[in-house]
Amino acid sequence: MKLAVVGSGYVGLVAGLCFAELGHDVTIVDNDPEKISLLQQGQLPIHEEFLAELLTCKRDAGKVKFTASIAEALEDCCVIFVAVGTPPKENGEADLSFIEEVVRTIAQHALGYVVIVEKSTVPVLTHAWIRKIMALNGAAHDSFDVVSNPEFLREGTAVLDFLYPDRIVIGADTERSANLVSEIYLPLTSGEYHSRKTALPAPNSAIVPSNLIVTSAKSAELIKHASNAFLATKISFINAVASICESVGADVQEVCKGMGADARIGSRFLNPGIGYGGSCFPKDLTAFRSVAHESGYEFALLDQVISINEQQRARFLRKIRQALWNLKNKRLAVLGLAFKGGTDDIRESPALEIVKSLVEEGAVVTAFDPAAMERTKAELGDSINYVDSAYAACEEADALLILTDWAEFAQLDLKRLKEMLRYPIIVDGRNLYDPAAMKDAGIQYYSVGRPAVVQSSKTLKATAAKTTT
Ligand code: UDX
Repeated sequence: MKLAVVGSGYVGLVAGLCFAELGHDVTIVDNDPEKISLLQQGQLPIHEEFLAELLTCKRDAGKVKFTASIAEALEDCCVIFVAVGTPPKENGEADLSFIEEVVRTIAQHALGYVVIVEKSTVPVLTHAWIRKIMALNGAAHDSFDVVSNPEFLREGTAVLDFLYPDRIVIGADTERSANLVSEIYLPLTSGEYHSRKTALPAPNSAIVPSNLIVTSAKSAELIKHASNAFLATKISFINAVASICESVGADVQEVCKGMGADARIGSRFLNPGIGYGGSCFPKDLTAFRSVAHESGYEFALLDQVISINEQQRARFLRKIRQALWNLKNKRLAVLGLAFKGGTDDIRESPALEIVKSLVEEGAVVTAFDPAAMERTKAELGDSINYVDSAYAACEEADALLILTDWAEFAQLDLKRLKEMLRYPIIVDGRNLYDPAAMKDAGIQYYSVGRPAVVQSSKTLKATAAKTTT
């Protein structure tokens, strides 16, 4: 099929290139001419596994093209996915003005029947507003349909999440539009894509063929917000349990193991840490809370989820002080700046917020992240030092802080770290290490929801003597 995707951010770009991978002819539209020219030259504005390969292969095969013009995209397609930004406003509501702008342009340039598919995360009833905007701009009642097809992809695994989804949700109020959008996903829902020799490799938990759920447009809009709010609740819940573990000396990882073994609970998204961040959870939580408020329901649970998430950062800072006392002029090695491993995204990154607080307290931060250094430099400038490896960050540092769950940070040589650090102190905001291994390595280890590993004065004395000589 021929289709268009408006917006070349994480969602739009991944969806557009994956639609091309399924066999469709895709036009990706963005009003940023620089982005379009970059993509036309085969360069990506974001870091995402498999995306560069997809771009090269689909561009060479003529399956994807890029333009700044919605009118041009509408010339030969009747399904247009809208994946533009819906950033939070001051009051927490989603700013839908970019969507309105796109819809107005579609109304002005559509040549025949068109299906407008909401791909961005939007509040419930946005589809009704899209209908109104189309009508106000002269589109006849039966010349278009609006469908909600929310995207559940995670940054870092976005391409595989798209091609091996847990579910595909299509919220449509007419059979015609439900069928059209379902047809686009047929290679996934029939399993045809997954049986191709050239298919990208299936992740371990892949559901094949993909599960299709058809609902009303408003239910689909709610599925997206409710799913993200539920996942964030799960994270804040376990972070609250971690705080209790710290108070009573229990081990939250053992608690997670026991809870997660209950199939009704499940072990995924039960990892305690410094709180959730990223471009979705923080914004979607406040937007969903506003949606609830507008509909006459005070979703107080979400206030708590947000508040626990904020407290996690403050608790982590307290842990650093507990390990080091004053932070002024302390040299701190920081591993991880992205909001999670596997991405260069620093939007709403708890790691970055913690780094900012450390700098405010007068600490000297030396940081390393495998992908997010450039973006951090653009935001923090030279307020911190940047190095090109985890070990380089540790050289002569008073302590090491782990802030992002990159896989490579879980495999560091502890002996080498201990030799490089001025004091053998690691504060781990992602629980990447077994406390017993830290004890054996002679390192003081503070993590989340687990008893701290405090070394005997004999071990510390030996280290101090070595450092002095
Ligand atoms: C999320 C949703 O998972 C995805 O379905 C939606 O489409 C977009 O938002 P993403 O923001 O890419 O995806 O990241 P995700 O992997 O969900 O992690 C979000 C945040 O929660 C990260 O900061 C991560 O570190 C944190 N997290 C996640 C935890 O602290 N503990 C966990 O157990 C899981």
